[in-house]
Amino acid sequence: MRRSLNTTITLNNGIKMPQFGFGTVRLAQTDDEKKAIILEAIKTGFRKFDSAARYDSERALGAAIKESGIPREEFFIGTKIWSTDMGKDRVIEAFEESLEKLQTDYVDLYMIHWPAPHKYLITWQKMIEIYEAGKARAIGVSNFNIEQLETLYEKSTVIPAVNQMECHPSYQRLLIRDYCQKHGIFLEAYQPLAHGLYLDNPTVAGIAAKHEKTPTQVVIRWHLQSGIVPIPRSTSAGHMKENIDIFDFELDTDDMIALNGLNVERSVNNFAPNCMDPTFFTY
Ligand SMILES: NC(=O)c1ccc[n+]([C@@H]2O[C@H](COP(=O)([O-])OP(=O)(O)OC[C@H]3O[C@@H](n4cnc5c(N)ncnc54)[C@H](OP(=O)(O)O)[C@@H]3O)[C@@H](O)[C@H]2O)c1
Repeated sequence: MRRSLNTTITLNNGIKMPQFGFGTVRLAQTDDEKKAIILEAIKTGFRKFDSAARYDSERALGAAIKESGIPREEFFIGTKIWSTDMGKDRVIEAFEESLEKLQTDYVDLYMIHWPAPHKYLITWQKMIEIYEAGKARAIGVSNFNIEQLETLYEKSTVIPAVNQMECHPSYQRLLIRDYCQKHGIFLEAYQPLAHGLYLDNPTVAGIAAKHEKTPTQVVIRWHLQSGIVPIPRSTSAGHMKENIDIFDFELDTDDMIALNGLNVERSVNNFAPNCMDPTFFTY
């Protein structure tokens, strides 16, 4: 299929979401600097943005969208609730604070950032209220494992539209991807470039040379052709342009096999064992 930057996929509730987005964690120090980077991303063509209360990027994102002069409906805004606001008391209030910072009266995707034990189920019920009130067009989760997704599946009435997880060629999340696919949940890939891990990888470099593209472009194509939703971040206008200049080539079967062969199912985050496993670790 011929794709472009804002080609959409259809989520499990029927709403459409661009398959390619822009991440907003650690963009810059000040809101003005963050806003300038987001405006550059909008100018480059991005319309889907990933934010979170925890990233402190909502205010800059809301301001950039307003300043762009482009109608709100043309954007797909995703944001997330952080663990300290989860539970029965603060969810609605935290959501309203996000709306206020984003200068909007609805979000396109509202997610639970981390499956804080004992809190994620009740938080999900509250998010269903937000969804049913029409203030979030879709709701989803992030960093959930299969067991936690199963809990939502069994104990609630709405299945997450998205599970946002670390994912890239050496950490392909095959088991959970398979689970998500079977249950109509899209896998959105955070750290899709693994912070530059593939820039020097000989397999990726070989494929890039064959197509006269860069290693980063090859990795983004791998995501799109694997049915994953990548949300790379960049503070550089040059990198932004490079990252979207990927719609004039296609990875062939040999390329995909070689890239799939890089999988070691290991995170690039240099944390202690189990630190990023939500079964063991909580914020
Ligand atoms: N849900 C969660 O728990 C969670 C966790 C982490 C991240 N996220 C989300 O996922 C998004 C993406 O993850 P991430 O930002 O951590 O990592 P990433 O997108 O994999 O990597 C970002 C890094 O790649 C560099 N880069 C981008 N394009 C490049 C290019 N063409 N050539 C060379 N380097 C390039 C950027 O540098 P330059 O700025 O110099 O371009 C930046 O240092 C985040 O922004 C956030 O929205 C979610």
